[in-house]
Amino acid sequence: MIELEQVEKTFGAGDSAVYALRPTDLTVPAGKVYGLLGFSGAGKSTLLRLINRLEEPSAGRIRVAGQDLTDLSGAELREARRQVGMIFQQFNLLSSRTALENVSFALEVAGVSGARRRERAREALAAVGLSDKESSYPAQLSGGQKQRVAIARALAAEPRILLSDEATSALDPHTALSILRLLKQLNRERGMTMVLVTHDIKVAHYLCEHAVVLEKGRVVDRIDMANPAPVSALGRFFFETARGWTDQTELPQEDDLA
Ligand SMILES: Nc1ncnc2c1ncn2[C@@H]1O[C@H](COP(=O)(O)OP(=O)(O)OP(=O)(O)O)[C@@H](O)[C@H]1O
Ligand SMILES: [Mg+2]
Repeated sequence: MIELEQVEKTFGAGDSAVYALRPTDLTVPAGKVYGLLGFSGAGKSTLLRLINRLEEPSAGRIRVAGQDLTDLSGAELREARRQVGMIFQQFNLLSSRTALENVSFALEVAGVSGARRRERAREALAAVGLSDKESSYPAQLSGGQKQRVAIARALAAEPRILLSDEATSALDPHTALSILRLLKQLNRERGMTMVLVTHDIKVAHYLCEHAVVLEKGRVVDRIDMANPAPVSALGRFFFETARGWTDQTELPQEDDLA
């Protein structure tokens, strides 16, 4: 579903060049959930943003859902990007629009006709359990509710891939787990392929089948989460820091999750 071949990214040139991502291969099969782990500045967001070409690669090829994005531009690139939804740590909702308007605006940008937009936006909000908040503005929502609106917005155009950049990092652990459960459900029910940036090994344990560990723009570990055997010091560090969440982890008050 996602194939990066010798993709690299350098910001600036000469003495001030920053090698955010060294030449990297990454293949994510359809329906799988991959985690990108690493400390601050490792290149996680850069790698994620290269997948839908929010960041222009300095070299290499990027294929998404069988299509080579590398040479696309304009309308073709916009069309290809509809396969890819994205969510962020800071939600990035429009503060002057209600939850429903935030989702339907994304559909407008995706070129969905006016008559269908409202219906699909309502379906997307229902899918994340927020039907009762359609008319609320972002300022009236909790962090977890805002992230659910952002997920609904990302899902409304029915992408096959979801990219997540630290989507649960700004949330308390209880709210974070409720969001991760929602993502797991989307993966299982819709077969959605996901790539999630995190520096929290618990997130990878709970949700990811594979984890890729980045250090200073290089992949230093590729880990099968069912049978983790990190080879790098950084990979081992991540795995030693937490026991991780499971389906059995108790989640109190499931009815009124934020
Ligand atoms: N637009 C930019 N211009 C110049 N340098 C950049 C730019 N974006 C990222 N970088 C640099 O590239 C490197 C990787 O940044 P990136 O944002 O991918 O890290 P990250 O792993 O996501 O870190 P964090 O966990 O703090 O979000 C860093 O050294 C960063 O300063
Ligand atoms: Mg980042």
